[in-house]
Amino acid sequence: MTNPKIYVAGHRGMVGSAILRQLLAQGVAQGNLVIRTHAELDLTNQQAVQQFFATEKPTQVYLAAAKVGGIHANNTYPADFIYQNLIIQANVIEAAFQTGVQKLLLLGSSCIYPRMAQQPMREDALLTGTLEPTNEPYAIAKIAGIKLCESYNRQYGVSHGVDYRSVMPTNLYGPGDNYHPENSHVIPALIRRFHEAKLANAPSVAIWGTGTPRREFLYVDDMAAASVHVMQLPKAVYDQHTSPMQSHINVGSSADVTIAEVAQAIAQTVGYTGQIEFDTSKPDGAPRKWMDSTRLNALGWQAKVGLIEGLAVAYKDLMSKS
Ligand SMILES: NC(=O)c1ccc[n+]([C@@H]2O[C@H](COP(=O)([O-])OP(=O)(O)OC[C@H]3O[C@@H](n4cnc5c(N)ncnc54)[C@H](OP(=O)(O)O)[C@@H]3O)[C@@H](O)[C@H]2O)c1
Repeated sequence: MTNPKIYVAGHRGMVGSAILRQLLAQGVAQGNLVIRTHAELDLTNQQAVQQFFATEKPTQVYLAAAKVGGIHANNTYPADFIYQNLIIQANVIEAAFQTGVQKLLLLGSSCIYPRMAQQPMREDALLTGTLEPTNEPYAIAKIAGIKLCESYNRQYGVSHGVDYRSVMPTNLYGPGDNYHPENSHVIPALIRRFHEAKLANAPSVAIWGTGTPRREFLYVDDMAAASVHVMQLPKAVYDQHTSPMQSHINVGSSADVTIAEVAQAIAQTVGYTGQIEFDTSKPDGAPRKWMDSTRLNALGWQAKVGLIEGLAVAYKDLMSKS
C-alpha cells in the first residue's frame, strides 16, 4: 500500500508519541495520520470505537493505548488492569477487522513470560509456566491480545488479508515517561529520586536491595523504530520468522545491566555527587530479566541508543517540563 492512513492509538503515551515521531521522521504526512486523545475517544467504549473506525477508515493501526503502571498500581487496581486492557484490545481489533484494516501492530510487554522463564526469555517461553502474581491480570490481558491477533490471522488471513502482529518490549524509558512517585518504573523512579536528592543536597540515596539484579532497558525511540520496522516487514518475511500460534516478537536492547550500574549512570546524568547506598533488608526481585531478541535481530533490527545517551535525553525532557 503506497499511502496508508495510519491510526496511532495512545499517541500521547510514551510509546505512542515515539511511534508518531518515528512515522513523521520517516516522511509520513500529517494528513495520513489519525489520532484521538483519550478524552476524544475512550477505547473501552465499543460503540464509539466502531463509529470511529467506520468514519475514519484507517488502513494501519499501531495499538499503543493501554492501562499501564508499576507493581503498586498493578497490585492496587488488578480489575482495572485486566478489564481495560482486554476491552481496549478486543474493541480495537474487532473494529479494525470490521472496517477492513489489514495491518495492525499490538504493543505487549515482557511480563507475558513465566516468572521463572529461562534467561534470556525466548518467544517460545510463552504459556510454559506460572506468571508473576503481582502483574498477572495485566499479563493475561496482553497474552489475550497476542492470541486475538493470531486468531484473526488464522481465521481471516487468507480470506481478508488480515495481518495482525505483536511486539513485546523490555523495560522502556525516555521522553514522555511517567515520573509518578508510586506508579513509575525503575528508571524514571530513580531519575526523580536522584534529582530530588541533588536539589536537597542529600548526602546519600538508598536503593532497594543489593544492587546486583540485572535488568534490560531500551530507549523508547528505539522501541518506536522497532515497531515501525516490524509493521513494515513484508508478510512473507514475517511469516518465515514466526508461526501462526507463536507470532509475537521480542524487542530488547540485548544489553543488561545491574541495578547498581543503572543507579550510577543516573546519578552521573543528574549530577548527583552523594553516596549510593543499598538497603539489603529490601527484596531484590528476580536476579535477572533479559529478553532474547534473536528473532528481531534476524529480521534486520538492532537497538541504537546506549543507556548513557538515552538517560541524558530523558533527563533533559523531564527538566524541560518541570
Ligand atoms: N513503559 C514501558 O516500560 C513499557 C514496557 C513494555 C511494554 N510497554 C507497552 O507499551 C504500550 C504503551 O505503554 P506506554 O508506556 O506508552 O504507556 P502510557 O505512557 O501510559 O500511554 C498509554 C496511552 O494509552 C492511553 N489510554 C489508556 N486507556 C485508554 C482508553 N480507555 N482510551 C483511549 N486511550 C487510552 C493513555 O491515555 P491517558 O493517559 O489519557 O489515559 C496514554 O496516552 C503498552 O501496551 C505497554 O504495555 C510499555
